[in-house]
Amino acid sequence: MRKPIMAGNWKMNKTAAEGTALVREMQKDLLAVPAVDKVFCPSFLAVPDVARAVAGTELAVGAQDLYWEASGAYTGEVAPAMVREFCDYVIIGHSERREYFGETNETVNRKIVAALAAGLVPIVCVGETRALREAGETQAWVRGQVVAALQGLTGEQVAGLVIAYEPIWAIGTGLAATPADAEEVCGGVVRATVRELYGDAVAEAIRIQYGGSVNAGNAFEIMSQPNVDGGLVGGASLKAADFIKIVQDAARAKGL
Ligand code: 13P
Repeated sequence: MRKPIMAGNWKMNKTAAEGTALVREMQKDLLAVPAVDKVFCPSFLAVPDVARAVAGTELAVGAQDLYWEASGAYTGEVAPAMVREFCDYVIIGHSERREYFGETNETVNRKIVAALAAGLVPIVCVGETRALREAGETQAWVRGQVVAALQGLTGEQVAGLVIAYEPIWAIGTGLAATPADAEEVCGGVVRATVRELYGDAVAEAIRIQYGGSVNAGNAFEIMSQPNVDGGLVGGASLKAADFIKIVQDAARAKGL
């Protein structure tokens, strides 16, 4: 069975001090939830303090991005080894980075390759716009993003990845995908594409998250879907009580 993975993407919220306080507030209750990976993804400057706050526990830290080069004259960028010093995970290709910061399927693939080489677990984001969904293009679009992201990777590498299906129309809108829609894309598109490219064993191993307006009220039903192995939570991960309930509900949904 795949181990569920619940991650909080804090986006550009929380200073180092605020983030540390938030983690301290949630730590005990989150650690009481069994058999679920729990990951905090703070901004770069909060990463070291959050990592120190959870050191020696089962709580993990992820960055929200990285650059693919190992070092050099790339002002403002953060190298994979720098991320790895504090993090086990890294979000790659979030739709906000694709939309506002010019990330493409090609840069996303380069970042995944670099992250894996550094020993990080990439959380790769894919998802369609509302216009694509309304045009009936969801399946082709998401499949294309998955194929491009995985370019050149081995089956062993792909088995260890996390892919987050985040429909753009559901992010920050309060309009989450229905559990059935989440299942249809996570299973029928993302996992099906991995199966087509890498076969059954890899498809059964890779973990697929849903993200987009996950909250304390809808997490149980969404996480109950068999092909949804976890959640990438934005706004609700900034509120201690909500994120704790979401993680507890994910465990309950999986019968843990
Ligand atoms: P919200 O949960 O705020 O909709 O954000 C989802 C997201 O983008 C997580 O990466």
